[in-house]
Amino acid sequence: MSNVRIALTKGRLEKKTLELFRKAGYDCSELNEKSRKLIFALPDSNIEIVLAKAPDVIAYVEHGVCDLGVVGKDTIMEKGRSFYEVMDLGFGKCRFVLAVKKGENFYETYKSRKIATKYAEVAKSFFDNKNMDVEIIKIEGSVELAPILGLADGIVDIVETGTTLRENGLVPIEDVACVSARMIVNQASMKMKKHEIQDFLKKCEAALEVNENGE
Ligand code: PRP
Repeated sequence: MSNVRIALTKGRLEKKTLELFRKAGYDCSELNEKSRKLIFALPDSNIEIVLAKAPDVIAYVEHGVCDLGVVGKDTIMEKGRSFYEVMDLGFGKCRFVLAVKKGENFYETYKSRKIATKYAEVAKSFFDNKNMDVEIIKIEGSVELAPILGLADGIVDIVETGTTLRENGLVPIEDVACVSARMIVNQASMKMKKHEIQDFLKKCEAALEVNENGE
């Protein structure tokens, strides 16, 4: 059996992904430690786990140095191009929203508007679909600051609990898309390691069903 290398998004999705792999029958105990190690061979299996940042998960899978990846739909929408998206893992759920300062009428003005976002492509296609010409300002994090500081009229960002928006005086005014964690597969790997990948995906699918049925 060939080895299957899986890139896993560090941070928010990490815990739930490992929980899923554990339910699928894999020993992920080494990944529980708070170490700085980035590559792990799972014992008694042909699976190797790589920990990476979300956009890098996509880069590694697209370039074929990882066969599979677990990454949020938000990053796929922003960066994704050529791979198979094979499974919605059902966790890491959040929404892409357009948000503005409380009390502001974003649409009721003829002046040109500025949007701050970490997701320039997502924001651009959202406003392109509306035939609206807005200026997109790329921000790297804590994008909620931009309207407060007067840099932008609104933001396009992901919202999970809504706490960050609320605590910074912003309100969502429109949904852009729903987001959750997805399993992606390199196109060549899907052919070359078909049997191994299908075996892994079947185990994950079964583990997801267990989750849904609450067993
Ligand atoms: C995300 C997002 C919001 C926040 C939303 O940022 O960009 O700022 O989480 O979560 P909430 O609705 O539960 O409050 P993240 O924590 O990834 O940090 P960053 O902005 O520094 O990238």
